[in-house]
Amino acid sequence: MEKKFNRTLVTTALPYANGPVHIGHLAGVYVPADIYTRYLRLKGEDVIMVGGSDEHGVPITIKAKKEGITPQDVVDRYHKIIKDSFEELGISFDVYSRTTSDIHSKTASDFFRKLYEKGEFVEKTSMQLYDEKANQFLADRYVTGKCPHCGNERAYGDQCEACGTSLNATDLIDPRSAITGNRPVLRETKHWYLPLDKWEPALRKWILEEHKEWKPNVYGQCKSWLDLGLQPRAVSRDLDWGVPVPVEGADGKVLYVWFDAPIGYISNTKEILPDTWEDYWKKEDSRIIHFIGKDNIVFHCIVFPAMLMAEGSYQLPDNVPANEFLNLEGDKISTSRNWAVWLHEYLRDFPGKQDVLRYVLTANAPETKDNDFTWRDFQARNNNELVAIYGNFVNRAVVLTHKYYNGVVPACGALTDYDNATIAEFLAVKARIEAAIETFHFREALKEAMNLARIGNKYLADTEPWKLAKTDMARVDTIMNVALQIAANLAIAFEPFMPFSSKKLAGILNLPADLTWNDLGRFDLMPVGASVNKAELLFEKIEDDAIDAQMQRLERIKKENAVNNFTPAPVAANVPFDDFMKLDIRVGKVLECEKVPKADKLLKFKIDDGMGGRTIVSGIAKFYAPEDLIGKEVCFIANFEPRKLKGVESQGMILSAEDSDGRLVVIGPQGEVRPGVQVK
Ligand code: MF3
Ligand code: ZN
Repeated sequence: MEKKFNRTLVTTALPYANGPVHIGHLAGVYVPADIYTRYLRLKGEDVIMVGGSDEHGVPITIKAKKEGITPQDVVDRYHKIIKDSFEELGISFDVYSRTTSDIHSKTASDFFRKLYEKGEFVEKTSMQLYDEKANQFLADRYVTGKCPHCGNERAYGDQCEACGTSLNATDLIDPRSAITGNRPVLRETKHWYLPLDKWEPALRKWILEEHKEWKPNVYGQCKSWLDLGLQPRAVSRDLDWGVPVPVEGADGKVLYVWFDAPIGYISNTKEILPDTWEDYWKKEDSRIIHFIGKDNIVFHCIVFPAMLMAEGSYQLPDNVPANEFLNLEGDKISTSRNWAVWLHEYLRDFPGKQDVLRYVLTANAPETKDNDFTWRDFQARNNNELVAIYGNFVNRAVVLTHKYYNGVVPACGALTDYDNATIAEFLAVKARIEAAIETFHFREALKEAMNLARIGNKYLADTEPWKLAKTDMARVDTIMNVALQIAANLAIAFEPFMPFSSKKLAGILNLPADLTWNDLGRFDLMPVGASVNKAELLFEKIEDDAIDAQMQRLERIKKENAVNNFTPAPVAANVPFDDFMKLDIRVGKVLECEKVPKADKLLKFKIDDGMGGRTIVSGIAKFYAPEDLIGKEVCFIANFEPRKLKGVESQGMILSAEDSDGRLVVIGPQGEVRPGVQVK
């Protein structure tokens, strides 16, 4: 049953304004949403794309504390960076706002009050973690501790990033305050809960029965949430940063960030369409599409829809095409570890290359599984695809038009079978691009669009007009006419994906400004006698040095992280004094030291232990040259059971410290002592 929509609202996950946006955000959310929106716009449909910064939540207040500035300072700084960089990348928001705006506070506040007045919340007093030194409750990221599911020692109060489980702060084992490091105590406090369990049957029906067409990763995640059974969720927090809870007796309480943020989509729609915003949210013939990353699925498919159902007057989303994650050079992207390619830095380092990033992130989008961004792949796709196929074809077509016709479009004569086959092949692609975009398969869609450029490139390579120019100029007229028509079509086909080069191409070909998607497939876009401007390269080769510079930056960050992000391993269980005394630790002097053949990690020591000497093998060859250690004093365990390493019997163990980057440093006495003395 095909449903007809007259209006589409595209929403994009609101990025937290506690850092700039990176390629993971772009590949997961903003580039696909922009392709989709541009495509619908180009088709002349009624569509708006809304976005904005998510400016509440604990990470923002933590960052402010760390830097000694206010949360407002933090969000002002990043909102500007994010907004400007989106604009420069051509993410064509109809509105990009922020959740600290007045219209948002009012919208979120009214929404809460309506649910409150309808009796949709459960009010509950419970024991929550409280930091007595900081004098505040510890919600969400204000607490860390051990994950009860996977044992990760650094789980947060709202989620364990190691196993992805969402948590309550009180679930954590051995919780610690992220503010003071203290062990929190339990204190009573009142909160409002949205009873998700009440909406479970409706959600099950709506998703599991009525939205089987959703992406398998989205449907699957929803199903496992629903199968686990839904619990009431607190929608307020004891914090001083956020939208105040608008009811009596709620001093010092704000809306939970995940309650107010999705309402941001509504506030933003209101902001640009104060009179007609409700059409997009409430009319049957409208559809809402949420573009998000996979970590947001539960909030967009379960929590927010439950809020909307409870409110009662809104439509639910039609689709939630969530993407998986993009990694960077094999490692998970992380804002706190600076392991990312930041959009604003990319735009600075690669000026004018917006489309290259858009292209690579789409061609490699994590649509069905996590994917990897590498700088080498970025370079290869630019040089071998954009430059060598799309750019090369357009350049040849334009240069030859100038060479043979002074830049004036020649007439098309009789088409050969080959011409007709090429045109037929070309026309068949349009429907495939459309089908792919409309089902959120943007990689596929881009691949098809690129096929159009391939067809053009192949057409010129096969027909070789530069050879025919000496013998059969009439044939060349036809070939060049066809080639120019193809080039003009490419400007339309690529617009949703790479709007900057489309604009440039349209400028070169003098295309009218009002072409739409419906013109794609016309072979009369370039009228005979019209003139073409001088060729300009659509894409330029990216040289190794630009890529090397990016790789070096990442290497440097890796090193810095190893040093800065070191947290000592948790202290092992206590041992009685007698256990310590069982270890016989001694000082010895290195008499000889050499590499162990065929073992790149091992060094063999002859140690003066004051008792006639002994041999010890130690795995520190990567960190010391043998001659560096000769004559040095070291500490070793003298009663370690002898064991054979690569055929050499080791009679003890040399002690060393392991630094955060894995480097081993040998431990020795700080003053002079006689070999053989005990360490106590
Ligand atoms: N700020 C959230 C994140 O980055 C996304 C919020 S989406 C919204 O994960 F729906 F809440 F707006
Ligand atoms: Zn876990």
